[in-house]
Amino acid sequence: MIDYQEILKDKLMSSNNPEWLERYNHSLGVTRTALALNKELKLGLNEDKVYLAAILHDYAKFDGFDRCKEIVEKYNLDKEILNISHKLWHSFFGPYIINDELGIDDKEILDAIRYHTTGKPNMNVLGEVIFLSDYIEGGRIGEEFEIARRVAFEEKNLKKAVAIELDNLIKHLKSINKEINSNSLEAYRFYYKYLDKEMNGLEKLKSIYEVVNKINAKDICVYETSSATPFFDYAIVATVASQRQLNALAGNIKEDSAKYGYNIRGVEGANSGEWVLVDAYDVLVNVFTKEAREHYDLDRVWKNLPKVKM
Ligand SMILES: [Fe+2]
Ligand SMILES: [Fe+2]
Repeated sequence: MIDYQEILKDKLMSSNNPEWLERYNHSLGVTRTALALNKELKLGLNEDKVYLAAILHDYAKFDGFDRCKEIVEKYNLDKEILNISHKLWHSFFGPYIINDELGIDDKEILDAIRYHTTGKPNMNVLGEVIFLSDYIEGGRIGEEFEIARRVAFEEKNLKKAVAIELDNLIKHLKSINKEINSNSLEAYRFYYKYLDKEMNGLEKLKSIYEVVNKINAKDICVYETSSATPFFDYAIVATVASQRQLNALAGNIKEDSAKYGYNIRGVEGANSGEWVLVDAYDVLVNVFTKEAREHYDLDRVWKNLPKVKM
């Protein structure tokens, strides 16, 4: 019986990277989490496969450029792959390095490792388990991890937990102005639907439009933005005359979302006196005073996009 835990330990230790022990403990945490998900959510995955994919997912974490270059030559890969962000090397090169050094060739295991950092659309269950376990293992502290953990283990909703992870990943990369890998973007678009199952995008748009309409907003324009941005499908722009209407919008949208069971990511600017932004994932709402609307001129930004008739 091969002891992969020891093999991983030797591999990480031999890198002399000061973070090797942290990475080793993280790998043990991911393994515990992945096995627990399989058991508690009754996923029926082969335990040996779950164990192997989890324990080895960061096996190549400290392999550097030279090793990756060797792999490109040995496996005849496109040299372009060396241009990806170095943070992604261990997941893209990991499967080849694991194959080369340990002789593992199970495609499912290697694929789960390949996409554990970025995710991809429509992963198989093992892929989802490894992707999520990497994110929610016990060493990760913070509310965002806690929410994903609760959705996974209490709601027992693996896909929704994966969607939450992707949503946080995209938000994080956006906030630090980092390029988002195309696998992650496509995965986000695929898994997004698991965030709120109760309403589809158009139903939600109608519901939110009614809220905007009810505060007596004027010149309401609805743009279909999906061709211009991966982050939302519709944008509503409207004008109000008073702070009272802006307050009402912020309050009413929260009530509406609770009533109809859709998620709001955030409401901003409620006290600004000139503008409220409601981010409801696929629907973005910007309500302005007349002056602010002219100043920010979002209508100009989106002028070439199709308008939705409500
Ligand atoms: Fe990793
Ligand atoms: Fe990891």
